[in-house]
Amino acid sequence: MKNTLVTFFTLCLSVAVLAARHESYYCKTKPANMKEEKVTRVRFYLRDTLSGQNPTAVRIAHANLTGGSESPVGFGSLFAIDDPLTVGPEKHSKEIGNGQGMYVSGSKEMSKFSIVMYVDLAFTTGKFNGSSISIFSRNPVAEEAGEREIAIVGGRGKFRMARGFVKIKTHKIDMKTGDAVLRYDATVYHY
Ligand SMILES: *[C@@H]1O[C@H](CO)[C@@H](O)[C@H](O)[C@H]1NC(C)=O
Ligand SMILES: *[C@@H]1O[C@H](CO)[C@@H](O)[C@H](O)[C@H]1NC(C)=O
Repeated sequence: MKNTLVTFFTLCLSVAVLAARHESYYCKTKPANMKEEKVTRVRFYLRDTLSGQNPTAVRIAHANLTGGSESPVGFGSLFAIDDPLTVGPEKHSKEIGNGQGMYVSGSKEMSKFSIVMYVDLAFTTGKFNGSSISIFSRNPVAEEAGEREIAIVGGRGKFRMARGFVKIKTHKIDMKTGDAVLRYDATVYHY
């Protein structure tokens, strides 16, 4: 009898604890014990093609005010991209990934032409196949004639929790069409 009573109360307590648990959402905080941080340097070329029958960058919106002007990249123009990433700058160089996302022409002054990028650079081959680097950054295209820098704010897969920067150098640009081949030298800190 005594045993039964004890069992009964234990049961009641368990039910109460369970009920209380279900009133709140699951959460658990503990020390992260992050693995040692690594740094990876990776170089590739990004081909941004606006012209022709098979563009990899397309304008998806523009401001009424600047949309009619000569330049397709006036302030407020928004582009969606799916640009190939290649080992070298040549047209038929081996493709190792792609950059998908958007960039918006962000400067009101054409002489200070800059874009703001929201792009995921994903690798589809090699050691980093399935991993990607997240870019969320101003890209001051006209500001620096030589190298310019954009920020890495995150990543997926092997680049999970990444941060870092990319030094960009224009390898080739066609001022008329806007077609460009850019060298990306990424320095990625990740775990
Ligand atoms: C767009 O611009 C044109 C010419 O500048 C003007 O006539 C038109 O009213 C504008 N449309 C809007 C929605 O602002
Ligand atoms: C990259 O990963 C995908 C998905 O896991 C796989 O299907 C593909 O074969 C891999 N490619 C290379 C070149 O390793």
